Amino acid sequence: MNHNIGTFIATKRKELGITQQKLAEQLNCSFQAVSKWENGTTVPDTLLLSQLASVLKTSVDTILGYKAVPITEYEKKYEGQDYYWGITPNRLCYEIMKLKPPVKPYKVLDIGCGEGKDAVFLAKNGYIVSAFDAAKKGLDKAKELARLHHVDVNLFQADINEYELCEEYDIILSSGVFHYLTPNRRERFIQNLKEHTTMNGIHAINVFVKKPFIEAAPDSEEAELRNEPWYSGELMRYYHDWMFHKYEEEIFDCNSGGIPHKHCMNRMVAENFQG
Ligand SMILES: C[S@@+](CC[C@H](N)C(=O)[O-])C[C@H]1O[C@@H](n2cnc3c(N)ncnc32)[C@H](O)[C@@H]1O
Repeated sequence: MNHNIGTFIATKRKELGITQQKLAEQLNCSFQAVSKWENGTTVPDTLLLSQLASVLKTSVDTILGYKAVPITEYEKKYEGQDYYWGITPNRLCYEIMKLKPPVKPYKVLDIGCGEGKDAVFLAKNGYIVSAFDAAKKGLDKAKELARLHHVDVNLFQADINEYELCEEYDIILSSGVFHYLTPNRRERFIQNLKEHTTMNGIHAINVFVKKPFIEAAPDSEEAELRNEPWYSGELMRYYHDWMFHKYEEEIFDCNSGGIPHKHCMNRMVAENFQG
């Protein structure tokens, strides 16, 4: 699990401006005990957890790192036998292969992998692929696709609004998912991705953006409508210190939901360029 209880307690405590001594007094324990939790030597006693959560203004679940993954409307879309998005890889996969051909076992993370078409395609081409999505049904189908193609993909369920990377990748791919990032999360999440990307590693990302002259898609999901849309060029801003291999905007027709409409998408391939 990608959660360190001690680090969480220390961060929360400092955010609230409480010293170890003060926290210990409120919990009726020694400050050495607090110090041991924070440096990972021990963990708090279960009987102390609810009081600790109350002092840190959080929940026991959050202290323990339990995060419920949101149930996306994609669970329903992925129910059928067919692959909702088909199995043709996204064009970003070819950009990746052009820039970083699999001459060595590059590590890839596919964020919001859906039913796994891109993750499986890259694994088939020799990349070491991890991929996550919120939708359990999508992951099940991705597992099946990987099995059919005799490749291993490390698939796991996670929420883009909670997940923090804890290992480095050479390549990060995400297609059609970043609009689920809540606005206040975007910068921090992308910073976390950048910090976990190897030197000369690349990010290949596309995101739907809002244009004043394009109406919301008739089948937009509730979460999409609730979230503030990305503005065109916003993605680029978070990568001002990386080298762009591609940054383009495309308006295209779509017929999802049976009603013709348009989307605007920004597409980016950027490199953690170190000379
Ligand atoms: C448009 S689909 C794209 C799927 C895949 N990248 C592809 O191109 O085939 C969007 C995906 O984002 C996933 N998703 C939605 N909200 C999410 C969240 N909060 N965390 C992780 N994935 C999420 C959905 O389950 C869905 O699979």
